[in-house]
Amino acid sequence: MLVRINVNGEWREADVWPGASLLFLLREHLELPGSKNACEQGECGSCSVWLDGELVCSCLVLAAQANEREVRTVEGLGSGEDLHPVQEAFVEAGAVQCGFCTPGFVVAVTDLLERDPTPTEAGVREALSGNLCRCTGYAKILDAVWLAADRMRELAP
Ligand code: FES
Ligand code: FES
Repeated sequence: MLVRINVNGEWREADVWPGASLLFLLREHLELPGSKNACEQGECGSCSVWLDGELVCSCLVLAAQANEREVRTVEGLGSGEDLHPVQEAFVEAGAVQCGFCTPGFVVAVTDLLERDPTPTEAGVREALSGNLCRCTGYAKILDAVWLAADRMRELAP
């Protein structure tokens, strides 16, 4: 079936199997491998994207459900030398080890800080409770969140 989505501001389309997930569409048809496939069960958050502005696990959404809708992925935040403040904060805080969880955390932290520029620690823990990291022990990820929050407040108009 033909699916058309607006991804990171650009309309793209692909011919997918009706049971294909949005994650599969992004990674295998649209050459957007930033969203990771770690569990495919909605348990780890590695595949997090925005669908019409709402954070979702793209492994749990059918590609067909995203038809004619807006998807924002980690690739839409920044790349290369033009990093998003949250991406910069993860690098500077040393919050990346194997990096497999990092795109999902970056998306979840960005979502949180766009909604709440001054979150409480409990709010941060709640917002990130759907994201699993097997390497860092989370302390440096929390450091990255506070650093990113400072940076994003500085950049706010
Ligand atoms: S791959 Fe989607 S939640 Fe783990
Ligand atoms: S850095 Fe390896 S899973 Fe998080």
